[in-house]
Amino acid sequence: MKKVKIKSPANIAFIKYWGQRDKKFFLPYNDSFSMNLSSCYTILEIEIIEEPKIKKLYVKDYDKDKFEIKHDESFEKVINFYNRAKKFLKVKKDYGFIIYSYNSFPKKAGIASSASFFSALALGFSWLFEKKLDKKNLSILARLSGSGSSCRSIPDGFSWWYKGNKSNDSYAVSIAMPSYWDLVDLVLILNKGEKKVSSSEGHQNVETSNLFKYRLLSLEKRIKEIKKAFFKKDFTYFGYLLEEEAISMHSVMMTQKPPIFYWSGKTVELIKKIIEIRKIGIEGYFTIDAGENIHLICQKKDEEKFLKFLKDQKEILQIIVNYPEEGAKFI
Ligand code: PMV
Repeated sequence: MKKVKIKSPANIAFIKYWGQRDKKFFLPYNDSFSMNLSSCYTILEIEIIEEPKIKKLYVKDYDKDKFEIKHDESFEKVINFYNRAKKFLKVKKDYGFIIYSYNSFPKKAGIASSASFFSALALGFSWLFEKKLDKKNLSILARLSGSGSSCRSIPDGFSWWYKGNKSNDSYAVSIAMPSYWDLVDLVLILNKGEKKVSSSEGHQNVETSNLFKYRLLSLEKRIKEIKKAFFKKDFTYFGYLLEEEAISMHSVMMTQKPPIFYWSGKTVELIKKIIEIRKIGIEGYFTIDAGENIHLICQKKDEEKFLKFLKDQKEILQIIVNYPEEGAKFI
């Protein structure tokens, strides 16, 4: 076989990863927890080329009809990951390859495009190097891409990333299959543009926020509580914790030096509307990753009510409806 095709989902974090206690091996300060997204994914094809000098990356964005060759930092990240993957898997031989990557959603907009891309690439490199890895080692490999959250896109459904003590015990596992809970993530696109500060850049300065220590302390309780709420399917408490967590992470972002403001006026307007509509019994909660766009988490029974309400909101350019999904796989 000279070529394989892989599909891997983005994920939305209910408990966030923000900051690295080890910057070489991308070890997080805390555990994190996420759900894989069914409609936000990367399709990646990787082809082996006999000539090892040939290494190419072609990308097609969701709104384009052609693949474009990349020579920018996205290609550099692929090469860095290739070298780290070789080291991790103790591979000596140099390989030539061509990658074609298609994204179903806007990238660098707070919808974890790097998680879907690098988790797919971790599976792609394991195939290239002829290594059959179990999910644990695939998850570790994905983490070493530099986009730590990509390790959560390897397991199925709902993933828990254990922060671990060292590189080989920091990985994600599935704590529930996609069918466990019919949660819906309505991704509300308010801006399709790329964010100005990448998460990799943001992770570097978390320690400069006065709130960071407090965030870590408060996380201990929140992590325990959200796990309990999840296994009881207590949506109201789960949602409360979800919002508390998003606000906690963004408070750190806004108080680190230099500060990062991912939210826009439109983000705040919609947050207020989500809180308001809850009062009349349409129950949904917001969470936000490193971007301006909102993830509205609700239960399947309320999806239609939300879609009806959201279609009249002028801030929203597009809505992407997501259900829990399997992890990275060959297709
Ligand atoms: O995995 P990275 O380096 O792209 O960082 C992800 C950071 C957040 O999306 C903000 C939080 C998370 O846990 O997904």
